[in-house]
Amino acid sequence: MRVQVAIIGSGPAGLLLGQLLYKAGISNVIIEQRSKEYVLGRIRAGVLEQGTVDLMDEAGVGQRMHAEGLVHDGTELCFKGERHRIDFKKLVNKTVMIYGQTEVTRDLMDAREAEGLTTVYEAHNVSVHDFDGAHPKVRYEQDGVTHEVQCDFIAGCDGFHGVCRASVPQDALRTYERVYPFGWLGILSDTPPVSHELIYCNHERGFALCSQRSPTRSRYYVQCSLDDKAENWSDEAFWAELRLRLDEEAAANLITGPSIEKSIAPLRSFVAEPLRFGTLFLAGDAAHIVPPTGAKGLNLAASDVRFLWQAMVDHYRGNQVALEHYSERCLSRIWKAERFSWWMTSLMHRFPDTGEFGQKIQEAELAYLVGSTAAATSLAENYVGLPFQD
Ligand code: APR
Ligand code: PHB
Repeated sequence: MRVQVAIIGSGPAGLLLGQLLYKAGISNVIIEQRSKEYVLGRIRAGVLEQGTVDLMDEAGVGQRMHAEGLVHDGTELCFKGERHRIDFKKLVNKTVMIYGQTEVTRDLMDAREAEGLTTVYEAHNVSVHDFDGAHPKVRYEQDGVTHEVQCDFIAGCDGFHGVCRASVPQDALRTYERVYPFGWLGILSDTPPVSHELIYCNHERGFALCSQRSPTRSRYYVQCSLDDKAENWSDEAFWAELRLRLDEEAAANLITGPSIEKSIAPLRSFVAEPLRFGTLFLAGDAAHIVPPTGAKGLNLAASDVRFLWQAMVDHYRGNQVALEHYSERCLSRIWKAERFSWWMTSLMHRFPDTGEFGQKIQEAELAYLVGSTAAATSLAENYVGLPFQD
């Protein structure tokens, strides 16, 4: 098979890139190690910045998102038993869209299938070759047969544990990492959300988050220890712990129900530099990871894809500038999102060394945040997504 771009990974980054390249007339194939059902079964965050919403529209897959997504004008911070609203609309005249990543992935998969584009699912032993030259190749096995894809470029959209970053000579790569000493125990339930917007809670027992997927489906998280296990938590124990971390009104209004998904996710900050190696380009979780506190994971993946899509369109029109500057343009935005995600995580969570003094400092910073237009504006402009510096 020969295409202009071989995309490794059928997550949001790979699918969004594939759709944008197709609409630009650039041939591409997606090679995915898992089944379509497995990819769709992943439960991930669901806050889309306006830039991501715009990109979904650009890709021609925004219809269901606009029909079913929930536009939020703000969010709430809960600390010392009280809730305080950060009004995005008033502070920065922007909003966010609540629309599950699973739905984003589903919409992109459906569009790809409708266009008759090729996604190879359950591709085994995927490997990337000769990306330091002009004739890169991708090889994979399926049904006992080894296949080869010849291409102009390889887009490494294969996530944190993918093959692409792992295939780069390690002396050509610099990585930066911070692993957090706690996890998030998350529950999905077919119950109405406790509030019409998200609630981020700082509590001395630990962080909690009230999120949602629709008017009838909620997503909740409580900070837990890294050696905890989801099976150690009954639904009743989860709801009781969540109530302890909420303000009185939210605790009283919380509608509980059976969990339809329960899991623990670790938290990490990670960046690989650079993002380009000859004709191999990293995008999304393959290049960076953020703790979910700032809801940046999907949005950063979309941000990389936006730069890569535009750079490849320019390349085939004879202009190499954007391709040559891909890595530095992505990293400028990546590091600002990494900083915001680290800051939100540091502010909202109970660390082993937080102690009583640290708790008072967190509460003082939160009180300053909700009492200062300047501070609240800073949070708002980072949360809704910083402008693209084109
Ligand atoms: N060969 C082929 N596919 C692979 C390989 C491989 N060797 N390794 C991983 N993959 C696939 C995974 O199965 C997954 O479907 O690459 C895809 C990567 O998708 P994501 O991990 O979702 O990463 P990305 O598309 O960058 O999206 C980032 O997803 O994980 C969340 O929080 C993250 O919201 C963020 C978003
Ligand atoms: C989610 O809905 O899963 C979610 C929302 C906001 C976050 C993290 C996760 O910051």
